Amino acid sequence: MKTLAAAALLVLSFCATVSGDEDTETAVTAQPGDVALLPCYTAGNVTPSLTTWIKDGREIVRGGGDSTPSPSAGTQRLAVLQDGRLNITQVVRGDEGIYLCTILLPGNNIYHGRVQLQVTSGPENVSLSITTATPLSNGTLIVFRGSTVSFNCSASSYPSQHLTWGFSGASPPNDTLLTGLGPWLEYRIENVQPGAQGVYSCTAHNTVSNQTVKKSTELLVYYAPDRHPECMWTPAQDPSHIYFNCTWFGAYPTPTLRWGENHDQQQWHEGHLYATEETDRLSMILNRTLLSDGQTLTCIGQHLARVPGHENSCSFTLKPPFPEGEPIATAVERDSITLTCSENISVPPASTTWRKGLQQEVIIPGPKYILSEEGPVLTLTIVNVSKEDEGFYFCRSENPLNVTELEVYLTVKTSSTYTGVIIGVFIAALIVGSTIIIAKTVYNNRHRICLGGGFGQMEDTGDVLDLVESDDEQIFHDTVPRLPPLPNGNHTTLVQIHRIPSNEYEDSESVDTSAQQEDTVQTDEPEELVTF
Ligand SMILES: *[C@@H]1O[C@H](CO)[C@@H](O)[C@H](O)[C@H]1NC(C)=O
Ligand SMILES: *[C@@H]1O[C@H](CO)[C@@H](O)[C@H](O)[C@H]1NC(C)=O
Ligand SMILES: *[C@@H]1O[C@H](CO)[C@@H](O)[C@H](O)[C@H]1NC(C)=O
Ligand SMILES: *[C@@H]1O[C@H](CO)[C@@H](O)[C@H](O)[C@H]1NC(C)=O
Ligand SMILES: *[C@@H]1O[C@H](CO)[C@@H](O)[C@H](O)[C@H]1NC(C)=O
Ligand SMILES: *[C@@H]1O[C@H](CO)[C@@H](O)[C@H](O)[C@H]1NC(C)=O
Ligand SMILES: *[C@@H]1O[C@H](CO)[C@@H](O)[C@H](O)[C@H]1NC(C)=O
Ligand SMILES: *[C@@H]1O[C@H](CO)[C@@H](O)[C@H](O)[C@H]1NC(C)=O
Ligand SMILES: *[C@@H]1O[C@H](CO)[C@@H](O)[C@H](O)[C@H]1NC(C)=O
Ligand SMILES: *[C@@H]1O[C@H](CO)[C@@H](O)[C@H](O)[C@H]1NC(C)=O
Ligand SMILES: *[C@@H]1O[C@H](CO)[C@@H](O)[C@H](O)[C@H]1NC(C)=O
Repeated sequence: MKTLAAAALLVLSFCATVSGDEDTETAVTAQPGDVALLPCYTAGNVTPSLTTWIKDGREIVRGGGDSTPSPSAGTQRLAVLQDGRLNITQVVRGDEGIYLCTILLPGNNIYHGRVQLQVTSGPENVSLSITTATPLSNGTLIVFRGSTVSFNCSASSYPSQHLTWGFSGASPPNDTLLTGLGPWLEYRIENVQPGAQGVYSCTAHNTVSNQTVKKSTELLVYYAPDRHPECMWTPAQDPSHIYFNCTWFGAYPTPTLRWGENHDQQQWHEGHLYATEETDRLSMILNRTLLSDGQTLTCIGQHLARVPGHENSCSFTLKPPFPEGEPIATAVERDSITLTCSENISVPPASTTWRKGLQQEVIIPGPKYILSEEGPVLTLTIVNVSKEDEGFYFCRSENPLNVTELEVYLTVKTSSTYTGVIIGVFIAALIVGSTIIIAKTVYNNRHRICLGGGFGQMEDTGDVLDLVESDDEQIFHDTVPRLPPLPNGNHTTLVQIHRIPSNEYEDSESVDTSAQQEDTVQTDEPEELVTF
């Protein structure tokens, strides 16, 4: 353009009156408050005799040459310099526009100039605000997963600006999430997720001056799992020690875990906080001296994303072991016997074992002993029980709190006792059967017995077949009448039957058996006699 102006000047020097080419436009950019100098005739070092500046078809100032610059009508800000330039002391918004100048050069040459003044400012006061975000001490902002985040970028630019939201995070950077014209630009994320974590930037671009200002901020998305921490225990090698583990996975950043007891109102009682660490897995080991019945151990998870005391803990109440079962058991020799013990009270779970004898030797499973465990129920089966198995058995339950035993006494009965019962029953049946036969035979042969008219004699004397039951001994006294002497000189016999009541087999049979056998021998005689 300057070249063009120079060319115009060249033409001008040859002509008497030359008009400046309207195309020779000069652009000037100024910020509000600046001093702006608008050139008119730039082709040479001349002093014009008169310069007139016109804006929007109105003369705004005139002056020049050797004459002192005349103050413009009502505006102190504008002055025409000696070389015809327009000096705008304090540019204000609204000064922008097309300025036309007319210069009267020496030799009555007239030159027309055209200047475009651009007034621009900014971008300034670029500000970036993220609502519902909390600043950390280092200025980084945090939001919590699931919340709605509103990003507002504002800036001032004159005359106009473009605002752009950009993002760079774990996902591929995106320089233009949103763009728009205006004093501010809002970008919203509903239900914010960890993927939205990263650096957010707002770029303000002045559309006229082409100036750009960029501001950015780091945003972290914090979260904690919805579930509470998990409390676990692991037995240590020494059974009087135990590991208490607490885990709380899935929180960002790493939570703080604390193990202690007697926690209330967010306060730990003096000396009852056992461990605290910034971790998602906290383990502590305690021994018997620190544990007691009914003690409650609590693990509390602490995280910015969770309101304190809001279901952030797990705990358990310690209980000593308590094995339960029948204290007495009876077995028959050569049979199997199963002893049962149930342990479901112990917290933490006890280690329960079967032991034998007052020395409490651990029972090792094998063909003799079968051990089984079904949930809280433990059983010990002793195979082919013998008299030596009689004695004490212990269901010994141990947890880190204490040791508790269930004592079981096993009685073993010999199988011969049972054989005796069977024999007794058999003999009793035999005797009852024999008696019936005798009675029947006697009755059937009464005519033979009464040979010699003895029977009639019997009736007369009142000697009858008399069954007497003794209340005390429960013995039948079968009084057989004294029969008249027979030619061979045999004598009659008294028959005694010891009746065994069915409910008394167990204790009396062995003693009675011999007596009955005696009786049986005796009965033979009269039987022979009667069948004679
Ligand atoms: C323009 O005007 C201001 C205020 O009157 C003055 O301070 C400044 O020196 C002037 N600029 C020139 C180049 O004369
Ligand atoms: C920019 O901020 C400053 C200080 O807050 C204020 O004085 C000024 O007016 C602001 N500028 C714009 C253009 O809003
Ligand atoms: C600010 O602190 C947080 C957490 O301590 C960290 O993740 C982040 O990188 C820090 N930011 C800067 C800019 O140092
Ligand atoms: C964004 O910020 C600007 C300047 O602080 C404010 O005027 C505008 O109301 C805000 N927009 C929203 C949606 O909050
Ligand atoms: C950047 O984000 C905008 C708005 O969320 C989306 O339309 C555009 O596809 C994204 N570009 C890239 C490269 O991810
Ligand atoms: C604005 O700036 C960019 C680079 O910053 C440049 O490529 C472009 O030509 C400029 N535009 C104007 C009108 O100056
Ligand atoms: C508990 O912590 C101890 C020690 O760190 C470890 O040996 C054990 O495996 C953990 N138990 C569980 C269930 O995580
Ligand atoms: C149990 O722990 C306490 C405290 O750590 C310790 O003083 C004590 O000696 C330990 N006792 C045993 C038997 O390990
Ligand atoms: C323990 O188990 C036994 C047998 O399974 C059951 O009768 C008893 O009610 C249980 N006790 C508790 C406290 O669960
Ligand atoms: C049972 O034990 C006895 C000795 O006590 C033995 O003689 C017998 O063979 C055993 N029976 C079985 C089936 O093991
Ligand atoms: C362990 O059990 C015994 C017997 O029941 C009891 O005397 C003792 O006080 C218990 N010890 C603890 C620490 O509970």
